[in-house]
Order: sequence, then structure tokens, then C-alpha cells
Amino acid sequence: MSFAVLRASFRKSAAPANFARRSVNTRFRVPAFRRFSTETPPPPPPEPPKKSNTALYAGLGAAAVGGVAFWIYYSQSDAARTAGTAVKSGVQSAKAATNFVPSKNDYVKVYNKIVDIMDSASDKEYDDGSYGPVLLRLAWHSSGTYDKESKTGGSNYATMRFEPEARHDANAGLNVARDVLEEAKKEFPWISYGDLWTLAGVAAVQEMGGPHIPWRPGRIDGFAAQATPDGRLPDATQGADHLRNIFYRMGFNDQEIVALSGAHALGRCHRDRSGFEGPWTFSPTTVTNDYFRLLFDESWVWKKWDGPKQLEDKKTRSLMMLPTDYVLVQDKSFKKYAKLYADNQDLWFKDFSKAVATLFELGIPTSQFVTAEPWIMPTQDEQTESQEAEKK
Ligand code: HEM
Repeated sequence: MSFAVLRASFRKSAAPANFARRSVNTRFRVPAFRRFSTETPPPPPPEPPKKSNTALYAGLGAAAVGGVAFWIYYSQSDAARTAGTAVKSGVQSAKAATNFVPSKNDYVKVYNKIVDIMDSASDKEYDDGSYGPVLLRLAWHSSGTYDKESKTGGSNYATMRFEPEARHDANAGLNVARDVLEEAKKEFPWISYGDLWTLAGVAAVQEMGGPHIPWRPGRIDGFAAQATPDGRLPDATQGADHLRNIFYRMGFNDQEIVALSGAHALGRCHRDRSGFEGPWTFSPTTVTNDYFRLLFDESWVWKKWDGPKQLEDKKTRSLMMLPTDYVLVQDKSFKKYAKLYADNQDLWFKDFSKAVATLFELGIPTSQFVTAEPWIMPTQDEQTESQEAEKK
């Protein structure tokens, strides 16, 4: 039995009867244990000097970065952006000087660590037993601040580490994801936060049964002055015009807006984060096109409660849709794509993979990437299969 199968069966055993009855895709629903703090995580303590190339590279990289850090911090000018490239060149020279250039295999190790972290949620009785959904949301919120006109925002500088971006309403609860990923950062200090967060998004989608998301490293850590203004991420209480304003600003079209929204097959809303409550599907830790199917197949009615306006399914009253989700079956152009995805999961997987890969690379100068073509990171099942094939 592969590790992934073992994990899956463990998850299944935690499924409460009511959720398990409703869907073959259902994995589990454990009583919620919510860890919520508004504190921004402190920077990780400096690593004690080690003899490895990794530590040496990290040290030299930090020194190279330090040279221009102050200037960039106080400037938003083109010159500062150029300095950003100088930072990168400095880091790359440091890598060359120490002979430590992380290989794809090094990133696979980080990927595997992220999967361990994802699964540790079930021991902590967190949500539905996986940090996967909140990790994907972190990757998306760090990327979705991109503005194609000013070429600011996006995952490049991982500015959500800083105030006030860390405390923007849209980012409520993402401290959970940032905190748990610190364990990976500690073990692999050479990875930038932007690479770590987006790789976590990739691992979340892939390990929860979704398509491969092509990904490559190269993001660099920035400074507080590069943090983005509030209001760049979508407001769930709004309608089609708002969705278009937000996503067109990033460079996406209607089809991509719909494809990306299918991520709400995963996870749930939390009263103490967004104010909304509940999951979109009966299988919140499995990537399926159920979000689209349910939008069409169920009758959705406004929930009567003291919270923000949201919809609930008439039949079980246990699922939810945000006003911005419901817009996908009200707006003519959005509806066309939502229907295509409800009828064809393979098509959605293909389009979702492409749109998420684009999302995670918004705003990163091509010259920063360590490879011309994005990588396909193998899932843990695929890693096991290839190890077994090698043994034969
Ligand atoms: C279309 C506009 C979108 C709006 C208005 C929106 C809004 C929201 C809201 C209000 C929540 C609940 C947060 C909480 O209470 O914990 C949420 C959760 C989530 N969103 Fe979105 N979102 C949008 C697009 C996306 C996209 C593009 C992705 C990924 C590609 C995504 C992935 C997720 C995931 C995985 C969760 C669950 C997080 C968890 O379980 O902790 N969302 N979203």
C-alpha cells in the first residue's frame, strides 16, 4: 500500500457518518478545532552556522540582498525595481560562489515536507483534516494582488509577511497557513517565501486529487514597502462587474475567472475569518468539478441568519455559495463556461491547471526563473511508483 493510499484510508476513517453518506467523494469531516491568531508570525530565528553549502549560500545570499535592501525599502521607483534585479543577481552569484544551486530534486523534498505539514492537520483536528485548502488560498492571495498596469503585486516579494497586508480583511485566517509553513522554511531556509507559498498551492491541488500545476522557482523575498494596498482581492459580497474588475486587472478573461473559481470545490468559509460559514461541496478535501455541478443541480436559497448574505442548498442546508459564486450561473458569459465545466471535469482540470499556473507566475520577471520551462512536480504517488519501477 502506497503512502498516499494509507493517508487516504486514514482520512476516510475519520469521516463522520452524515457527510460520508452524501457523496462517494467524501473523505471526512472532523469536529472543527480552529486556531486563529491575528499575530503576524515573527521572522524565523537565524539558523546556526552549518558546514553545508545551503547555509553558506543562505548567508551569502542575505549579504548580497542586504546591500540594496535599504534603498528598495524606501523607494518605489523604476530604479528600485532594477535594484530588485540586482538583488536577484546577487543571490545568483552567491549560489554560484557556493556551488549550491537547488535542483529540482531539492524542491521535491520541500514539496514532500509540505505534504507532511498538510496532513498534520488531521492530528490537530483542524477543519476537515487537511491544511491543503488554506495553503491553496494563501498561494492565491499572495499572487492575486497583481496589477498588470503598474506591474506591482503578485507572489514575487511575498509581501503578505508584512503589515498592513497581513491584516487586510481578505487575508484573515491566512496566518494559519503562513505559520504552519514555517516548519518547511526552517528545514529548507534557502527557499524564498514566494516559492514556498506557491509550491504549497501546487502540492495542495495535486495531493488532493487535482491536475498537475506546472511550477518553477525564482521568486525573491521583498520588503514591507512593496506590500500592496488593500482592495486588490475580490469581495465576495459583490457581483459580476466587480469580479471582472478584479480579475481583468490581473490579466484574466471570463473563462479563466470561472475556471479559477472552481477552487471552491475545496475548503470552507469560517465565521471568524470572512464572516461566511460552511463548505461549498461534500468533499472539501478532494479536487472535483462538484462546485460547478452543485451550482446547476441544487436549488440555492438565501440563508436566513445574522451573517453576511450567502446562499444555502435547499435540500440539505449544509452547503453554501457566496454571492460571487452564484454570479457564475447568473451572468450569461460566466454561465456558458460554468456549464462546460459542470459537464466535463477533464476540461475543467485542463483549464484550471493552466489558469493557476499563470496566476502563480503573475508579476515575476521571466529572467528570475531558474528554468525556461515550468516543471511538473511529481505527486507522492508518482514518486512511489517511480521508486518501485527503479527497484524492478
Ligand atoms: C472569485 C473570487 C473569489 C472570492 C470572492 C473568494 C472568496 C473566498 C472566501 C470569502 C473564502 C472563505 C475564507 C474563510 O472564511 O476562511 C474563500 C475560501 C477559499 N478560497 Fe476563495 N475566493 C475567490 C476566488 C478563489 C480562487 C481564484 C481560489 C484559488 C485558485 C480560491 C481558493 C479558495 C480556497 C481553497 C478556500 C478555502 C480556504 C479554507 O478552507 O481555509 N478562491 N474564498
